[in-house]
Amino acid sequence: MDRSENNYYYNGSLSAAESDVPLTEPERQYFFMDKVKKIVENKVRDLGRPLTFHVTTFGCQMNARDSEKLRGILLRCGYEESEDEDCDLVLYNTCTVRENADNKVFGRLGVLYGYKKKNPEMLIGLCGCMAQEEVVTDRIRKSYPYVDMVFGTHNVYMLAEILYQRFDENKHIVDVRESADRIVENLPLERKYFFKSGVNVTFGCDNFCSYCIVPYVRGRERSRRPSDIIDEIKRLAADGVIEVMLLGQNVNSYGKGLEEKTSFADLLRQVNEIDGIERIRFMTSHPKDLSDDLIRAMAECDKVCPHLHLPLQSGSDRILADMNRHYTKEKYLSLVDKIRNAIPDIALTTDIIVGYPGESEQDFIETLDVVDRVKFDSAFTFIYSKRTGTPAARRSDQVPEEVIKDRFDRLLTRVRADGEKKAMALTGKTLPVLVEEVNKQDEHLVSGRLANNSVVHLPGDESLIGKIINVKLDSCKGFYYLGNIAE
Ligand code: 5AD
Ligand code: SF4
Repeated sequence: MDRSENNYYYNGSLSAAESDVPLTEPERQYFFMDKVKKIVENKVRDLGRPLTFHVTTFGCQMNARDSEKLRGILLRCGYEESEDEDCDLVLYNTCTVRENADNKVFGRLGVLYGYKKKNPEMLIGLCGCMAQEEVVTDRIRKSYPYVDMVFGTHNVYMLAEILYQRFDENKHIVDVRESADRIVENLPLERKYFFKSGVNVTFGCDNFCSYCIVPYVRGRERSRRPSDIIDEIKRLAADGVIEVMLLGQNVNSYGKGLEEKTSFADLLRQVNEIDGIERIRFMTSHPKDLSDDLIRAMAECDKVCPHLHLPLQSGSDRILADMNRHYTKEKYLSLVDKIRNAIPDIALTTDIIVGYPGESEQDFIETLDVVDRVKFDSAFTFIYSKRTGTPAARRSDQVPEEVIKDRFDRLLTRVRADGEKKAMALTGKTLPVLVEEVNKQDEHLVSGRLANNSVVHLPGDESLIGKIINVKLDSCKGFYYLGNIAE
């Protein structure tokens, strides 16, 4: 496409003769952060007010972590963070795992346009998973010309460079890459919580579950070097972080392709040794790769929280095979037995999809059977969403909406009842809670989590945030507890 067409600038490198631009990362990005900072300083002087930004995150923990990187870069460029989207730069870090996620974003872009009409300085950027889809970039170009920058999942780290191009060329930027050529370490980052942090261990996914768009938008699986991960966690611990969440689409296959041979179990053992870290969580585990050694490591490592999120997706062998999940109902159930034998108090949570193409009543009953037998502590239940480009979307036997709705309601009733029963079992006990924030509904309460990830509210104030305290769980309200600091 001609670069001047529609005033859009595609996947370009800089047009200006910038002989001093470093070719290595992260030096190149620091160079552009300094350049943008100068532009921002000039604008601040001319306008007589700060330039503000807001990053809105949709979707998973990976996106939340990427947003911390985006915020870190913008703060370093001299922007100030704004609480709301009526500001000078809004970035939507998007999710596309289900169709309603896309619709939500398109709806909200309209609201941003209202702000932009009042503020000539305002820039709007869309990044993350949606941006990797051609249907989305086409739609933005045609119907949302006020979006200034679109970039994908593989070049989040390039925000400063993209922003510089936007200022320098005064053209809209669409810079979406097919794949990631590298993992760029050591960029600035602004954490949302001072006491806990996500830590990427793998990027991308190679599993190609037949319904899922993630492998297409996040690319092939890449593992970070163990030394980079450990160094990052040591730095976090030195900076006051006590809980880390190791992140990957399938952390259980961590280590593939690394020079230093390391499994996820090895990595957990190494993280467990880091002084200052008190809680270790991880997300997500694929049942096909959950090894005996990982179960052993979870049981041995005192800092690893007794919680495992193990997506089931379906209880029907026929559907699981079609989904390309590489396990059967019996294999899943035997894994659960193994885990519960090794770690009796573990909380098990899961993801389940209802209405996968061709799902019969009998298939659905198999799913209910697993739910009945496992008794999950909680389950995220999803209505199957057709994602263009995935094998499942091409099937002609999509399940009618009313059938899906009925199954979804039946499933939800079961998982809710199990969750409530499980939670009741801890009522009356005194357990450690990491306090995370002042309660959003009631400022006299603070909210935190048990090691097993259950939410607890208790009377308290800001001074408790980031501390692990013993709390007596007085009552259970379905999915959360009300408690009091133990004497
Ligand atoms: N439709 C519904 N749910 C999906 N998930 C992934 N893709 C789809 C889809 N097309 C669910 C899976 C996954 C979770 C993150 O999202 O259950 O584990
Ligand atoms: Fe999607 Fe399957 Fe990869 Fe999870 S493991 S991100 S469901 S393809």
